[in-house]
Amino acid sequence: MRHNIVAGNWKMNKNAGETAKLLSDILNQLPSGKEVEVLVAPSFVNLSQAIHMLEHTNIGVAAQNMHQAEGGAFTGEISADMLTSIGVQNVILGHSERRQYFKETDALLANKVDTALKHEMRVIFCIGEELKDRQNKQHFNVVDNQLRDGLFHLGANAWVNIVLAYEPVWAIGTGETATPEQAQEMHQFIRETIRHKYGESTAENVSILYGGSVKPDNAKEIFSKTDVDGGLIGGAALKAEDFVAIVDAF
Ligand code: 13P
Repeated sequence: MRHNIVAGNWKMNKNAGETAKLLSDILNQLPSGKEVEVLVAPSFVNLSQAIHMLEHTNIGVAAQNMHQAEGGAFTGEISADMLTSIGVQNVILGHSERRQYFKETDALLANKVDTALKHEMRVIFCIGEELKDRQNKQHFNVVDNQLRDGLFHLGANAWVNIVLAYEPVWAIGTGETATPEQAQEMHQFIRETIRHKYGESTAENVSILYGGSVKPDNAKEIFSKTDVDGGLIGGAALKAEDFVAIVDAF
């Protein structure tokens, strides 16, 4: 069901001690009674600790990536079963840093999505254009292709476990945010594309998050847009006060 979500993608930041500190600061400062689901995505090695510390709280835990195979000779990789066996029910897939630095393709990501869903995980699937795509007015095409190639093989029922994150690559870690109007325009396009393929109910029920330099001072305006259901937060998720202020923007 479509609802508000604020998720912190910690990327390759925070060691074990820093993870514990950030989680306890967030827990201490988080306002109650907000209509928003809160998720954090620490590194793989700190997921167990996060699961343990957040047990009996209303903050959920997500992994930042996952391998597509069930298991076997894939040195250094992490499977869906390993994640769910420690209580991780959410996974971020298709982040632009995975696409760019680790050459993850749409076809590979479609495979990862299938594996995650088979293990009854919820997928936060990232899409978004690069600066050159927007300059060449190709941004709608790029996002359309990422959606089709990564997710449109799924049946409508599978979409209850999909959350989308629109993250324009040029806005990630740059301090340059998409304007609320640019975010709304793309989110509306994404919902419309899903509506064409799957119909009204699937389109209306999917939560679409915006990611890219969301900060306490711009979150409220971005989240106020009709088709923006929350945020995937990078840098600002690493400071408890900022992350909590972003949750508080709802
Ligand atoms: P920043 O908020 O640091 O721009 O990162 C966004 C992001 O990549 C979240 O996944």
